[in-house]
Amino acid sequence: MMATNPYESDELLQQYLIFHYASSAEQFPYGFGAVDALGFPQRCVSEGIDVGALPENTRALDLGCSVGCSTFELARHCQEVIGIDYSQAFIDAANRMKTEGLHAAWRLDEGSATTLLDLKVDEAIDPNRVHFEAGDAQHIREDIGQFDVVIACNLICRLPEPKRLLQQLSQLVKPGGQLLITTPFTWLEEYTPSANWLGDGAQDSFAGLRSALEPEFELQKQWDMPFLIREHARKFQYSIAQASRWLRR
Ligand SMILES: C[S@@+](CC[C@H](N)C(=O)[O-])C[C@H]1O[C@@H](n2cnc3c(N)ncnc32)[C@H](O)[C@@H]1O
Repeated sequence: MMATNPYESDELLQQYLIFHYASSAEQFPYGFGAVDALGFPQRCVSEGIDVGALPENTRALDLGCSVGCSTFELARHCQEVIGIDYSQAFIDAANRMKTEGLHAAWRLDEGSATTLLDLKVDEAIDPNRVHFEAGDAQHIREDIGQFDVVIACNLICRLPEPKRLLQQLSQLVKPGGQLLITTPFTWLEEYTPSANWLGDGAQDSFAGLRSALEPEFELQKQWDMPFLIREHARKFQYSIAQASRWLRR
């Protein structure tokens, strides 16, 4: 396991602020390739949630929310949204976004060249609907209640015990509620001991995810979601998360 949490580092804080809040042109200033992978935190909500099926006074939970863009996006449609992340540095930045509506971040261009960007939350989103807290998605506080929507985007392969989270989800999602899980299934020993990789040591991770969620959840749809994380102006991580939306029976 890791001695220090990389998600507390300033390098990843700047990278995630850019990934979540910089415009497409600020992240990827090219007219070719990879454009399908932009806007991932926004697409988690626009593609991932059936907003037409949400009830009145919707409660939503964003697990592993990082610096909070998807949490704010959920607040377009939900009256109360809680974002939880294990990184105090990420939660502090998300809370600054909530109270100030903006946050500066350094974008790496090349070598020692950087650009300071002023990043913003869309003014159409009511920040008072959003609450951020530091916490462990494997041990969610018992008094948190139940939700109409729970999302866990690119989280499960960063947990030491993903099944611990998956087993709590039937208590967290109300009957008829929606669950979105996206994951590139990038299993690494530093985060998850191989004995805990889903699907028989990640022979078939989705089968493992499915057997942990059924029968309490019914699979509604499953699709591919590319996402792009900028390292510098000429180097990007292009990944393809597997997305699945589940209905709580
Ligand atoms: C790959 S990032 C994904 C962030 C965000 N959901 C997204 O899609 O951009 C993984 C996130 O999970 C958080 N995380 C790792 N372990 C966690 C845990 N046990 N409980 C809650 N969050 C955790 C990290 O701090 C990081 O913000």
